[in-house]
Amino acid sequence: MSTNIDQGFFATDVSYKDSAAIVTGASRGIGRAIAIELARQGADVLINYNQNRAAAEAVKQEIEDIGRNAAIIQADISNLESHQKLLDTAHETFGKVNILINNAGITRIADILDETPEQFDLLLNTNLKAPHFLTQRVANYMIENKIPGCIIYTLSISDTMASDNRTAYCISKAGLEMSMRSYAGRLAMHGIKVNGIAAGVINTDLSRVRIPDYEEAAEKGYIFMVRPGTPEDVAHATVAAMRLYDTGVVIPASGGVMTPLLNLRSMSALDMNR
Ligand SMILES: NC(=O)c1ccc[n+]([C@@H]2O[C@H](COP(=O)([O-])OP(=O)(O)OC[C@H]3O[C@@H](n4cnc5c(N)ncnc54)[C@H](OP(=O)(O)O)[C@@H]3O)[C@@H](O)[C@H]2O)c1
Repeated sequence: MSTNIDQGFFATDVSYKDSAAIVTGASRGIGRAIAIELARQGADVLINYNQNRAAAEAVKQEIEDIGRNAAIIQADISNLESHQKLLDTAHETFGKVNILINNAGITRIADILDETPEQFDLLLNTNLKAPHFLTQRVANYMIENKIPGCIIYTLSISDTMASDNRTAYCISKAGLEMSMRSYAGRLAMHGIKVNGIAAGVINTDLSRVRIPDYEEAAEKGYIFMVRPGTPEDVAHATVAAMRLYDTGVVIPASGGVMTPLLNLRSMSALDMNR
């Protein structure tokens, strides 16, 4: 085993020229922003979508306008049999795949006391099992073809912060963080880097309904939150994670939500200090 791997995404001057990425869930929200940012950086992109073909086609057009190649593919990633099609399409279209962005995900609101096994299975199959096994397939492809690569997971502050009305989501994301770390350990010797982004409250279809609550909490001083995040904030963090001289780490994109804050400003006993 070589101990001197400093190539591809372990180099300090990472180049996206001649790179080709698969981005799951790239028709909307964070995945769309990541796909476009990768194209801006010089990569070709396979845009995976599940239901919104028109939106995926619009992303393809945006990428082509930037001057990069793009293709779209419908696949419900929770169906593991669709994964080979994803990989084959990207390889046949671009000649190789050296970037995988595990981004597609769903959430459901359900009180932990009412959540059903069916809801739990849906969340775990889509958010955890699917990216875990897609990574396995793409990693084996990279190893077989001796392609140094980079795999990024869109993780969440919910990896570590519990929500009792979205428990299956939190469990799926916590498990996904361990998937990320485990692959990082296994793949470093092959020049394949694996990192994650802990996204905060990002203004997309998935989270829009929660944003007023967070804004209120920030206004009252319960959490630091500069502003709700944009998909582009996560896309910039993704590119930063790809350039990091590190693997198996999670970098935040959460506007300060995770910053511990002991807020005692309103306690009258402190008034004497003013
Ligand atoms: N928004 C947030 O605040 C936030 C915070 C932390 C982490 N995240 C994570 O970021 C990722 C993206 O979230 P988002 O906010 O951008 O969500 P979004 O706006 O709802 O977009 C979800 C994307 O995933 C695709 N998708 C959903 N289920 C799929 C499936 N089974 N197979 C393939 N594609 C599928 C959708 O495709 P179609 O529209 O074509 O069906 C869409 O492109 C998720 O993993 C989410 O957990 C989001």
